[in-house]
Amino acid sequence: MGLFITFEGPEGSGKSTQARRLYERLAAQGYPVILTREPGGTPISDMIRRIVLDLRHNEMDPTTESLLFSAARAQHVAERIRPYLRLGGIVICDRFADSMLAYQGYGSGRDLDELETLTRIATGGLKPDLTFYLDLPAAEGLERKRRAAERPEARNPLVPPVAPPERVEWNRLDARDLDYHERVRAGFLELARREPARWRILDAHLSVDELAERIWQTVVPLLAGIKPVGEQAT
Ligand code: TYD
Repeated sequence: MGLFITFEGPEGSGKSTQARRLYERLAAQGYPVILTREPGGTPISDMIRRIVLDLRHNEMDPTTESLLFSAARAQHVAERIRPYLRLGGIVICDRFADSMLAYQGYGSGRDLDELETLTRIATGGLKPDLTFYLDLPAAEGLERKRRAAERPEARNPLVPPVAPPERVEWNRLDARDLDYHERVRAGFLELARREPARWRILDAHLSVDELAERIWQTVVPLLAGIKPVGEQAT
């Protein structure tokens, strides 16, 4: 079985940038690797993403919300993540089930045991081998994301992006209040505390290069069992 790495963090922590940097470095060295995200990652999961994050869906019931995130995850695991891991590849996922515990659990106050049961159903028990958490106070993260969402290219699709496309969208969960986002952050830290062997907490104030290097140094020892693509046929 391959290697499953997830990135978690509050809005605007730079986790998507780091997930991409890790993906590019592994791919450049010939490792079999895919970069994906949640909610999303397959056509069906992307359709669910649009429903669950739509700013207009204020009336969404919290149970519906948890079931939709789980449904998107079930499809993603079955169609994409598990098959790739079975082939011996590396899957890098921008958010995964820990986001549900942090957002729907610690943030919205849903029962954690229930969410864990739902997650087990959706993932079939699959857990990341390694989870990076980029930590940042909620207020700072939201401000970073708000500024990014206001960049001209985020508003107008005709303006070419200044950097490779990393679409910044202001969604229904971003729009919740600061207390909510602080609870989410505290939730992530609690999850990390409970499973220290899986989690690596990083200070999101570090430079992009410094973070990328620390992440790389953590991943390298885990690559011993992964065969670069060229060697697989032999
Ligand atoms: P996204 O635009 O991907 O934001 P980010 O760049 O912060 O990852 O939006 C995903 C949102 O969905 C984000 O606010 C976190 C939330 N979320 C949940 O509430 N539960 C979940 O299970 C997942 C995967 C995401």
